[in-house]
Amino acid sequence: MSKDRYWRAISIDSISPDYFPSVALYLRSGGNYVLYKDPDRMFTAVDFQRLERSFTEFLYVRSGDMDVLSEFMENSLTELLARDDLSSVAKGRILYQTSVNYVIDLFESPETTDNLPRCRNLVQHILQYVAKEPLAMESLQTVTNNNFYIFAHAVQVAALSLLLHEKLFDLANDEMIDVGIGSLIHDYGMIFISGEILDKNDALSDIEYYKVKQHTQKGYEFLKRSGNYSEVVLNIVRYHHERYDGNGYPTGIKGDDIPRSGQVAAICDVYSALIMDRAHRKANTHADAIKIMREEAKNGAFNPEIFNQFVEIISKRNSA
Ligand SMILES: [Fe+2]
Repeated sequence: MSKDRYWRAISIDSISPDYFPSVALYLRSGGNYVLYKDPDRMFTAVDFQRLERSFTEFLYVRSGDMDVLSEFMENSLTELLARDDLSSVAKGRILYQTSVNYVIDLFESPETTDNLPRCRNLVQHILQYVAKEPLAMESLQTVTNNNFYIFAHAVQVAALSLLLHEKLFDLANDEMIDVGIGSLIHDYGMIFISGEILDKNDALSDIEYYKVKQHTQKGYEFLKRSGNYSEVVLNIVRYHHERYDGNGYPTGIKGDDIPRSGQVAAICDVYSALIMDRAHRKANTHADAIKIMREEAKNGAFNPEIFNQFVEIISKRNSA
């Protein structure tokens, strides 16, 4: 990955002038990172207004400063999301950014033991947010350009999966949390794929594609061995690339042999991939993404009932 991996984006809405931790903040300017304030200087309301006037949505911190900042962000989420003076879109931006930074941490330090409680906390917030906020999907799209695809995609799939489960099925809260955790870490197995393959802009060779496909089974085996994850979580990690007609991977099971959470994750995974910018193509619009997916659905790729309801729910959100 590029030098961008040393930097993490922070939405300026989430910087509270009074009690933001003392870390250096940077502006991104023409691909470079320029010091905006050093650690000792307070971030003030004047800073906020100045940045807002120049339409700056994000400041950046060095990844080495992220421990202190993540802790601060995750602990203050409840308070930030309850504030009346922040718009729905601003809240979405904060939640999304915090979650993306969490997924980056998770992928970069998989051995960290406090990951699961953090994950639970974030999923709970995402769940509440997507259930209540009509503009949730819009704010998801606004942040995707500011991070690496794989992490932003993880959060998007989690939000979409939670929204769909919330609308369609009557699950207990614990199971919803597991759906969220599984969706957030569905591509966890990518940590076993070499950076060379992941960063490649050109089409993958057959061998490379074969290796990428292994992320499902490898992620599943690794997480299962850790003993910390429920069956719902493991099913999503393992089966999110299966197809309803049996043409998916890693096992090729079909129809309702694919666990329901895996069927939902497959739909959300494809949609999210289509509406985000990738190295080799620009993002599709919502309408184009649905058109492409309808073709795939016609050929049997998705559970038709879940797919139709997905289209209905997501289209409503996009026109809200
Ligand atoms: Fe995947």
